[in-house]
Amino acid sequence: MSSQSDGLMMALQDLSTYAGLSRHRRIKLYFLGMVLFNACLYLIIYRGHKDVVTGRQVSTSKPHDLGVISSRDLSKVACDPEVIKDIVRHHGENAKEQEGKLCPKNTKTGEEPSRGFLSRFLEWWHSGSEDNSTNTHRSLSASHDYNLVLNEPEVCRTKGRNETDVFLLVCVFTIHSNFERRKAIRETWGSQKIVRGKQIMTLFMLGKSKNQYHQRLVELESKRHGDIIMEDFVDSYQNLTLKTIMTMKWTSQYCSDVNYVMKTDDDMYINYDALITHLTDPETPKTKHFVGNKFSGNAPIRNPKSKWYVPKKMYSNPRYPSFCSGTGYVMSGDIPARAYNMSLHTRFLYLEDVYMGLCMKKLKIKMTGHSGFHIDNQPYKYCAYKRMITTHGKTTTEMYRIWEDQGSRAGTICVGIHKPLHRH
Ligand SMILES: *[C@@H]1O[C@H](CO)[C@@H](O)[C@H](O)[C@H]1NC(C)=O
Ligand SMILES: *[C@@H]1O[C@H](CO)[C@@H](O)[C@H](O)[C@H]1NC(C)=O
Ligand SMILES: *[C@@H]1O[C@H](CO)[C@@H](O)[C@H](O)[C@H]1NC(C)=O
Ligand SMILES: *[C@@H]1O[C@H](CO)[C@@H](O)[C@H](O)[C@H]1NC(C)=O
Repeated sequence: MSSQSDGLMMALQDLSTYAGLSRHRRIKLYFLGMVLFNACLYLIIYRGHKDVVTGRQVSTSKPHDLGVISSRDLSKVACDPEVIKDIVRHHGENAKEQEGKLCPKNTKTGEEPSRGFLSRFLEWWHSGSEDNSTNTHRSLSASHDYNLVLNEPEVCRTKGRNETDVFLLVCVFTIHSNFERRKAIRETWGSQKIVRGKQIMTLFMLGKSKNQYHQRLVELESKRHGDIIMEDFVDSYQNLTLKTIMTMKWTSQYCSDVNYVMKTDDDMYINYDALITHLTDPETPKTKHFVGNKFSGNAPIRNPKSKWYVPKKMYSNPRYPSFCSGTGYVMSGDIPARAYNMSLHTRFLYLEDVYMGLCMKKLKIKMTGHSGFHIDNQPYKYCAYKRMITTHGKTTTEMYRIWEDQGSRAGTICVGIHKPLHRH
């Protein structure tokens, strides 16, 4: 019997080399051959007992036990844990509410039953050879050829003017309609220009709005405050990565001597004091430093109903690289120019924080996690807020209230505030 199977294998080998198949396909072909061969044997030996075999199958497996059917049972299927992780990442304390909306129980498994044997087989057959094809795919993103509509070319050029150089540049991602949020930030945490002797520059990053009225209002706002950077791409969630690339490009052109750059959002509360404390810590690296709330080993969400849906065509790898949540991350001043350069050779992905993770991985810059960066909405407590660097989901009313309370109780002793923050 072994000589018979050897003969078959040899035949298969000849056939496969003749057909010019790659090595991993050949291995799969052998495997397939073995399975077919054994199936034939099985049929030959058990031909006489066929009825018994099939009879047993029918009696043991009720249709309800087949995964295919039970997965359609809406009451039983929970959301993919990866989906939930991502919801928590983006929505913080509102995660439960979002989960209800985004995971109406049958979500991910909904697509599975419709996939036939043939498509599964084809997927298996093509898997493993993707390295080649994706390399050509992701070799280039579009060049970033957008023009600055609103610019502040002088804000970082304070050298020689008897002023401290900008130590930290904070780029707040916002959209046109959030006038109130920008105002609140300017009047609260964003109002600090010098913290612990270090100069901070807070700017707002925007794309262009299709709404002419909003566009005009933001232009006026820019004249008044001089803190808005805008390029002429359409500002939208799907274009968020363009805003990140714009930030890297702008920083490398107009603020190249800055020590650190932060990216955050307009619904965040940032504690500059704690951030500067971390950045001026002698242990904090001065270059190649990328810090925030770190995620490792997250899988792309393949469920089309998710807000963070990423089809294989867009990103084929089963895992994302490590990345820091876009709610707030900080990088050393050497990174923006290199990140901008790298973005021109990195395939576009609309999840801007993951995209930065991809660029940093290629640049061999490690992501650092820091417990001070909170992605969720932390309940307000005076001392807790003294310790942390970022917290999410703040309304303008809360921002003013926190800012006022932090100011009025300044000097209150908080336990452990001068200890270095725990790092992970
Ligand atoms: C895979 O890549 C190698 C080297 O880059 C190349 O020689 C080969 O032709 C590619 N194969 C396919 C199927 O594209
Ligand atoms: C810088 O400014 C300070 C006060 O703002 C002044 O005392 C000092 O003389 C100035 N130095 C130079 C070099 O202009
Ligand atoms: C992204 O910006 C580009 C350039 O302005 C625009 O053509 C495209 O429609 C935008 N995409 C979305 C989804 O808004
Ligand atoms: C960006 O890339 C170009 C060419 O690929 C190189 O000349 C330049 O030095 C790079 N700049 C940085 C900051 O790495």
